[in-house]
Amino acid sequence: MAVSDYQLIQAWNQVLNLSGVQAGQMVSILTSSSTHPQTLATARIALAGLGANMVQIDLPPINAELSLSRDVLAYLGTTPLTGNPAAIAALKASDLVLDLMTLLFSPEQHEILQSGTKILLAAEPPEVLVRLVPTLEDRDRVLQAAKILEGAKLMRAVSDAGTDLHLPLGQYPVMKEYGFVDEPGRWDHWPSGFILTWPNEGGAQGKIVLDRGDILLPMKSYVADPIEMTVENGFVTRIEGGLDADLLNEYMASFDDPDAYAMSHIGWGLQPRAYWSTLGLYDKEQTLGMDARAYAGNFLFSLGPNNEVGGSRSTPCHIDIPLRQCTVTVDDKTVVRRGVVCKEGS
Ligand SMILES: [Fe+2]
Repeated sequence: MAVSDYQLIQAWNQVLNLSGVQAGQMVSILTSSSTHPQTLATARIALAGLGANMVQIDLPPINAELSLSRDVLAYLGTTPLTGNPAAIAALKASDLVLDLMTLLFSPEQHEILQSGTKILLAAEPPEVLVRLVPTLEDRDRVLQAAKILEGAKLMRAVSDAGTDLHLPLGQYPVMKEYGFVDEPGRWDHWPSGFILTWPNEGGAQGKIVLDRGDILLPMKSYVADPIEMTVENGFVTRIEGGLDADLLNEYMASFDDPDAYAMSHIGWGLQPRAYWSTLGLYDKEQTLGMDARAYAGNFLFSLGPNNEVGGSRSTPCHIDIPLRQCTVTVDDKTVVRRGVVCKEGS
């Protein structure tokens, strides 16, 4: 459904106000060929309305010859900022970067955040942005979940389909994604609404079963045949099943990188305005699949890098997999029961 410029400007106003943008601040807008023109145009109007100073940095896309997918999250690591000190200097000199290009998981993003600059990624289509425009309640929900996860020693995920996963915690920090950037050096993604961390190095053990209807990203597909993954000492060592397992195996093997199989971020969805079913309504070119990553009650796990939280793995391969119908426990608290978020943990 098309969105009016007015409505998208109002949504930008909400996000920018929650992110503390004030008159006189320096805001850089990072764009590339994948940037949605309405998202860019309305951001500029909203920033002008707030009295912010702005600059737009437009960079050419890269990695086309390396990636098997058109999804901007399908090949990570190097970005159009790699080896571009002039652009990096401009971004570091900004109070806020609006990333309409997708700078996820890159050393350059780290460097910019370290300078105190905030980065807000916004790459979903306008109608998804306005449906999932973040609120203070979204932040409260994520911060409550963070309290449970911070300091925890063990996450477990089990399901009737056969998932039985043991995830020791404590080595890596907890990340809170609620859709706006209200602290210096903070990164977030509009839209989102989930909590995540990484398991201790070498600690993840067990079995993961992707049941019929579970989602694979960046494939943006619903699994038709169950996929069984064996997890040993922090790595997926076997991926077995039918056609969907064959497709996943060939895709991951194309990176020729053992780190692609490492357990990456783990957590659960907390966004009641995000839906498991929306991916089925979109062409694959149109969305990153943030509904799938954020819908309330998923168990979201991923394979690939951990450089985002200071680890050494920077593999370009990154697979996000939200599972339905899991029960997730953190130490002695159940946080998701059979795919439904527990109110206080129990
Ligand atoms: Fe991910």
